[in-house]
Parts: sequence; C-alpha cells; structure tokens
Amino acid sequence: MNRPLPDVFDQALASAVRAPSPHNTQPWRFVLGRDRAEVRLDRARVLTVADPHGREARLACGAAAFNLQICLRANGLAAVVRLLPDPAEPDLVAVIRLDGNEKATAVERKLAEAVFRRHTNRRPLLDKEVPPAVRAALESAALSEGGQVEYLDATGCYTPVASLVRQAEALQADDHAFKAETAFWTHRAAGSPDGVPETASGPPPDAPGVVSMRASHENPRLPERAYEREPLLGVVLTRDRGPHAEVRAGMAMQRVLLTATAEGLATSFLSQPFETPRTRESLDRLFAGLGQPHTLLRIGYGYPARPTARRSVEDVLTRRDDPVPGRPR
Ligand SMILES: Cc1cc2nc3c(=O)[nH]c(=O)nc-3n(C[C@H](O)[C@H](O)[C@H](O)COP(=O)(O)O)c2cc1C
Repeated sequence: MNRPLPDVFDQALASAVRAPSPHNTQPWRFVLGRDRAEVRLDRARVLTVADPHGREARLACGAAAFNLQICLRANGLAAVVRLLPDPAEPDLVAVIRLDGNEKATAVERKLAEAVFRRHTNRRPLLDKEVPPAVRAALESAALSEGGQVEYLDATGCYTPVASLVRQAEALQADDHAFKAETAFWTHRAAGSPDGVPETASGPPPDAPGVVSMRASHENPRLPERAYEREPLLGVVLTRDRGPHAEVRAGMAMQRVLLTATAEGLATSFLSQPFETPRTRESLDRLFAGLGQPHTLLRIGYGYPARPTARRSVEDVLTRRDDPVPGRPR
C-alpha cells in the first residue's frame, strides 16, 4: 500500500492523547511504524493505590486506541485494530494497522470531530431528561465496539449503586495512601501537562446525598450549587472479564462518550466504587447477570466544561525506523 501521509498519523496521535484517563495520568505510550501504531500501557503512570491492577489504565488505553482509529477512518483510511494484551507482551494493548483506503462515513467524521470537544464535566447538570432516541444511540455505540451500556434507572440498580458510590467515598476518605495519591494528581496548577487542574473541578453541592463528583474534585472556592436530583447513570459492561475485556471496554466507553458529545450531552465518571475492593465486589455481584462492569458514567445536559492539558505527542511517542526493503520485520 501507499505510505500514508505523515501528518495523518500525527493527527491521529494528537487525537489519541485527548482520551480520558484516571486523574489525567495519561498511562500510554505509542510506537509508530510505517503502516501501524502500537498503543502501550505505561506502568509508571498507573495509579498504584486506586488502580493496582491497571484496570482503569487499560480502559484509558482502549479509549486512546479508539481515538486513533476513528481519526484514521475519518481521513479515509481503513484501520484494523488488533486488541491484545498478549501474555508474552502484557503492556502492548492494541495495534492499529492501516489497510488501504475506505471512504469515511458521516458517523466516523462526527465522532472524530467530537474528540476535541469531549471533556469530563463535573459541574451540575440540568434536570432535563435524555430522550429515548439518544439513550438508544449510546447503547448502539457501546454494542458496535463489543461492549454494552445499561442505564441504572432501567435495571433498577440506581439506589444500590448510589449507595456503593457513597460507601466507597467514605472508605477512601479514611485511607491515607488513597488521599495522598489523589492529592498528588489533583488541584494541579494551570500549565501542568498532566493531572486535574482546579478549573476542571465542580462547585461543592448545596445538599448532601446527591450522586455528585468526588469530594476531591470539588473546588471549595466556588459557591455551593444545586446538583441534578437524579442523573442518568450508565454502566459500561462487557461479556468477558480480564485485561483484554478492559481494553475492549475502553473502546466502547470512548465511543459512548464521543457519541454523547456529538449529541450535545455532558459526561463524567463515578469510579469510586471500582476503586475499593469491597465495593467493587458488590458491583460485580450486582451486575453478574448482565456482564462485567467496568466504569460508571454520569450523562446529561449541562454547560460547557473546561479542557485539561496533555503531554505532547513527542513525549509519548517512539518512532520505529522504516524497515529495509526485502528484510523481514
Ligand atoms: C477509567 C477512568 C476513570 C475515571 N474516573 C473519574 C472519577 O471517578 N471522577 C472524575 O471526576 N473523573 C474521572 N475520570 C475522568 C478523568 O479525570 C479525566 O478523563 C481526565 O482528568 C482528563 O480530562 P478530560 O476527560 O476532560 O479530557 C476518569 C477517567 C477514566 C478514563
């Protein structure tokens, strides 16, 4: 095949690094070859207390792989994704290989364009319902990447999950190692290339008991505000469990987030119950009939959120030399 224009890969990598990641740790590295890009887990950036097994980091890498692929597709390149991890190379999570040209669909162009407009929105949402057609669009987005979204109001799990969110938040508030790790990555000064700055935080809630953002993501300098009474919560699941399923779930999660952005919705995460063993086991049991739960999304209409920074592509990229013609790779 023809060698792709270098700037197409540059653009795809710029999209990849816009993926969400826990506390904006950006736990990825990319290796670029002649016709392929590898996404690798950067273990040095996995949260050792909140995410000791790298589960959330693999979700983030899956999201980065999705961004990379959708950008190539929107540019008219067929991109084949092979998801790993391979037991022999556990940190290689995905390989995206170019496979000729293919006209981009309107949906692919819309999703690629949403990559730069998607931001985690921790502010109060409006008490405005997400219409059934939009809910269905998010479900289809997850299904098309081999995942699943289940809405908690439909499964009857809203109350038990909301209680697990609060239970986990209480356990984490008493855990010094957890608090130290969170403090390291949040309330970052403007200009920090990673971590979560205060500008991305939400105001403190004016009433206790709402399913709002983590207390550590509140900006105490803002006046208290009323949060929505009962946000739409969606859990992203896969049939299987394990590292491969986590990367797949990350791709499905990202397609859901980008579809939501394209539909004018705001989104954020409620990961507290996934980050303490006891509440994670309860979540697993609660959804046992449906699949393996990976992440919990809060979805609704809101006012725009501020973007967070990223390290530059060059900081996370290794360029593999072109192979010598005739010599096997
Ligand atoms: C797996 C995962 C879990 C996350 N969990 C939370 C969370 O519990 N609370 C929160 O406010 N943000 C959470 N985030 C959002 C990140 O903090 C956010 O993606 C990061 O700061 C980058 O900002 P952006 O999403 O606006 O680009 C999570 C992101 C990922 C990928």
